Amino acid sequence: MESVELWIYRTVHAVCLPVIHLHTTGAAMRVSQEDFEKAKDQLKLLKEDPGNEEKLKLYALFKQATEGPCSSPKPGMLDFVKKAKWDAWSSLGSLSKDSARQKYVDLVSSLVSSESSSQVKDTTPDSKHGYETLQVTTTDHITKIMLNRPEKKNAITTQMYKEIIQALEEAAKDDSVITVITGNGDYYCSGNDLNNFTNIPSGGIEKMAKDGAVLLENFVKHFIDFPKPLIAVVNGPAVGISVTLLGLFDIVYATDRATFHTPFSELGQSPEGCSSYMFPKIMGLSKANEMLLFNKKLTAGEAYAQGLVTEVFPDRTFEKEVWIRLKAYANLPKNSLALSKQLIRGVEKEKLHAVNCQECERLRERWLSDECLNAVMSFFGKKSKL
Ligand code: COA
Repeated sequence: MESVELWIYRTVHAVCLPVIHLHTTGAAMRVSQEDFEKAKDQLKLLKEDPGNEEKLKLYALFKQATEGPCSSPKPGMLDFVKKAKWDAWSSLGSLSKDSARQKYVDLVSSLVSSESSSQVKDTTPDSKHGYETLQVTTTDHITKIMLNRPEKKNAITTQMYKEIIQALEEAAKDDSVITVITGNGDYYCSGNDLNNFTNIPSGGIEKMAKDGAVLLENFVKHFIDFPKPLIAVVNGPAVGISVTLLGLFDIVYATDRATFHTPFSELGQSPEGCSSYMFPKIMGLSKANEMLLFNKKLTAGEAYAQGLVTEVFPDRTFEKEVWIRLKAYANLPKNSLALSKQLIRGVEKEKLHAVNCQECERLRERWLSDECLNAVMSFFGKKSKL
């Protein structure tokens, strides 16, 4: 679009956009010449091009407000730009200068406020590309990996396992200081997506179990080896692997709405995520057995009392309080944190890898068992009867 005197804002790159305060309270009230001049100035501060349609409206209203109805000769058909401007101006017919001024001021005001509100929204960083089941962002030195299947309670599909591995690999290398895993919606995570057991590949059920065990072992390995502080922000109930992995996090913050459930024996399965080693270490053998053998679901308070959770927050203030704290942690020296984590975790790493390998081997067998297949069928059977 050809540049005209009104569109000088194109060359102005103001960083902040003050909110316009004009003396108008409705169409009925006349705007003053001063308001009109202010609107012209506000227009120069727009950072984004409002698009040709709006620019033509602005042009037409400006001309009408300053010169009155269009009386210049109609440009030729091939002079597209002049013709478009002429059409816009002459379409205003006999609109009075006062009314044109009013409409001009209103239009500028709406452009300014829509740009301001889009700038407020833009403070949330865009999710990194390449993820379908996660939202991954880095801001304030924190990489946040958000499980993003809220309609399925963030159940972890095969694709999500692979994407979490990728996100952890990227977070390990990026310039963030800490990494956070959380869930979108009312659940933190409902564990392994049980559909993973029903999508049988061409190699049959044995291949499904073998591939599943290889993927799971690699997945858990990424948690064992993660080099920076890893924090779970448990925003709601957690089930299965999302619970068993918590022993590999460095800090676990939970809302008081969260529950922690590992229904392995109900599902004919066995523990994973190094929980068969970490849970007895964290909470003592008998409490770990209640969870891992007998499916006891813990409240957030119980999980805190047993050392699985670092701190519990009231749901109402959970996000606010936790993120204030995390932002403060993320200002600590990056290398010092990473090195301290290695000291704390390093001595156990070999053991954890061995435990992970054993747990996955046992699960590969379990996934082929009648006990497990019946339990999965029963889950989907119950759903289809509802
Ligand atoms: N695998 C597959 N689908 C799951 C799932 C999982 N682990 N968790 C939730 N979903 C699906 C449900 O099938 C449902 O899908 P639909 O809307 O197509 O019917 C949707 O997510 C919402 O779940 P729903 O069961 O309707 O919500 P709820 O609040 O009544 O119950 C749970 C939530 C998590 C208690 C229940 O879904 C559940 O028990 N899921 C299985 C948990 C599990 O056993 N995980 C494996 C542990 S090893």
